[in-house]
Amino acid sequence: MIVCRSISEIRSSIAASKKPTDTIGLVPTMGFLHNGHMALVEQAKAKASCVIATIYVNPSQFGEATDLDAYPRNESRDLVMLEAAGVDTVLIPDTGDIYPEGDETIVETTRLANTLHGKVRPGHFRGVTTVVARLFNIVQPDFAFFGEKDFQQLQVIKRMVRDLHFPIQIIGVPTVREADGLAMSSRNVRLPEADRAAAVVLSQALTQAAHLARQETTISAIDDLIRGMINSESRADLSAVDIVWSDTLEPAQGPLTKPIAIMLSAQFGDVLLIDQREIAP
Ligand code: PAF
Repeated sequence: MIVCRSISEIRSSIAASKKPTDTIGLVPTMGFLHNGHMALVEQAKAKASCVIATIYVNPSQFGEATDLDAYPRNESRDLVMLEAAGVDTVLIPDTGDIYPEGDETIVETTRLANTLHGKVRPGHFRGVTTVVARLFNIVQPDFAFFGEKDFQQLQVIKRMVRDLHFPIQIIGVPTVREADGLAMSSRNVRLPEADRAAAVVLSQALTQAAHLARQETTISAIDDLIRGMINSESRADLSAVDIVWSDTLEPAQGPLTKPIAIMLSAQFGDVLLIDQREIAP
């Protein structure tokens, strides 16, 4: 596995090794890898002849410096995992390279970025699209892989790719969960034991919502069910329950007539967790 630490290094590496028939699958990550990331790599291996992963904790998508500083990191373990999974090349750039001095260009999906979780975390999705657009330009992949857990992020990136005509196919990969249902996330490691146990309420609420959706029901009944469950967990401080039509991400209302996406976020101590699920009637 080749490890590149600058844009010029990875560009030379791709230019030297890429054959005309090769396809590149990109797996962008912020490191501290878990099985959810490995599922992205697995899909990338299945789809592309060459897999490039990036490890970069992107400052522009963090609201508070404390959250950025607290983000867990373990580069040596990440490299072992990526090599074992058969990744060809890893890019670990530094911030001066990604955001050159005097940098003033941003990429933003103006509606999608500022709705739903974008309201709870202002500027977050602008930071994501800005860095992902740069990574796309650096690596020029044919395919790029993102987890469905970050459902809004996936929709935002798909919209950016469509609007800016990036010749890249975006592939969403299903959420990987712990045995009790908690969605895998690099943030989980920051949860003290009691919060870790309590955090399962998010996936339980989504499972109950999916059961309710199998009966004839309404969006407000689903909303009440979810709020009731999460509010009854004293360690959870509910930030948002957003129920949207999954094709448009517009707020859903009335009877459940077509697929919805339920997007939850809740604070457990100082750790913000999200979970999201698409549910069909
Ligand atoms: O999902 C993530 O880990 C990040 O938002 C991403 C896509 C790597 C951009 O920094």
